[in-house]
Amino acid sequence: MSKILISFFSASGVTKGVASKIADITGGDLFEIEPVNKYTSEDLDWTNKQSRSSIEMSNPSSRPEVKNKVSNLNDYDTILIGFPVWWDLAPTIINTFIEENNLENKKIYVFATSGGSSVNNSFDNLKSTYSNLNFISAKRLSSNVSDKDITDWII
Ligand SMILES: Cc1cc2nc3c(=O)[nH]c(=O)nc-3n(C[C@H](O)[C@H](O)[C@H](O)COP(=O)(O)O)c2cc1C
Repeated sequence: MSKILISFFSASGVTKGVASKIADITGGDLFEIEPVNKYTSEDLDWTNKQSRSSIEMSNPSSRPEVKNKVSNLNDYDTILIGFPVWWDLAPTIINTFIEENNLENKKIYVFATSGGSSVNNSFDNLKSTYSNLNFISAKRLSSNVSDKDITDWII
């Protein structure tokens, strides 16, 4: 088994919980994608067109700043990227992460949590935006993710 990095962004903790379970199951390392400016509950209000998340997600070129970078990318050949689905897409902070860390030649798996939307549209969008990267597959996971969900998928 190769060394795995489980990178994730989580605004309200659900994706973080799933990422920790994946780390337990795979023995992989966790990397939390931390926004310079944390998202408040007002920022996350999808019913308000003027909220930060609404503004960012209506602008595909928005790139919210990330505090940290992966320092030891060379150690990993498999990278998981996890996020909450926002407006049927990956939050644009995921674009910042991908553009600030060189993921070329890595095997990339994507996972997402959501209120019900599948991960397919987010995944298709990432694959077409970053056609130079080696995206393998994507899964929507919930907090009751099982060992088998992960071992059948990645290991
Ligand atoms: C701004 C915003 C947009 C969202 N858009 C969707 C959506 O399009 N489809 C969906 O099923 N859930 C949507 N959700 C719900 C989140 O995907 C879900 O609650 C997720 O598990 C939160 O993960 P987190 O706690 O790691 O941030 C949205 C949530 C927010 C805050």
